[in-house]
Amino acid sequence: MVPLFDSHAGTREELEPGAVLLRGFADPKARALLEEVDRIAQASPFRHLIVPGGHTMSVAMTNCGRVGWVSDRTGYRYDPNDPDTGAHWRAMPELFLDLAQRAAAEAGFANYDPDACLINRYAAGAKLGLHQDRDENDPVSPIVSVSLGLPATFMWGGKRRSDPVRRMRLENGDVVVWGGPARFVYHGVAPLKSGAHPLTGDIRINLTFRKVF
Ligand code: SIN
Ligand code: FE2
Repeated sequence: MVPLFDSHAGTREELEPGAVLLRGFADPKARALLEEVDRIAQASPFRHLIVPGGHTMSVAMTNCGRVGWVSDRTGYRYDPNDPDTGAHWRAMPELFLDLAQRAAAEAGFANYDPDACLINRYAAGAKLGLHQDRDENDPVSPIVSVSLGLPATFMWGGKRRSDPVRRMRLENGDVVVWGGPARFVYHGVAPLKSGAHPLTGDIRINLTFRKVF
């Protein structure tokens, strides 16, 4: 029998103080969020950035918001312009902002005001190694991470790279929020398994909202 509802949808899991997993939180908006991603990617196409070590990332990225996260051989930075087009990133859609603010509030972070949304696109095999998000000036405001499309295995470590890592499956509509005491937890994404999702086909999309300035 096919279940009518995902049995996890709507549950809330405290990962640790300052970090919450909200199952299915973005589910009702998934299709509309993906339509916005398409519009953003028409203006600023997904690209595989090069990191300072010279390696090309397997995850393809674009951004919206006042600034966007970019990387090249000289380092990582937030830039008000898309270096590929020379134009400003598209403004953050109201739908994005509203979702990020509601998720942050649900996790205990009132008045969230993100100025950047990094959009990650994972094809089969794409991964994101264990890292901290530390290019932002605000050390307290949360990261709000929204998963869309194919499921992924999210890795949730500790404040030191060597800390034990928990693995959890993130599905379409799941939102993870981490800030305050959990803001600098190491995290990453295991290589994406191939599959087919009704909304995205063979890819996973992740939105991460950040308060940079
Ligand atoms: C990130 O760490 O920036 C992205 C996490 C994810 O794709 O779930
Ligand atoms: Fe990250």
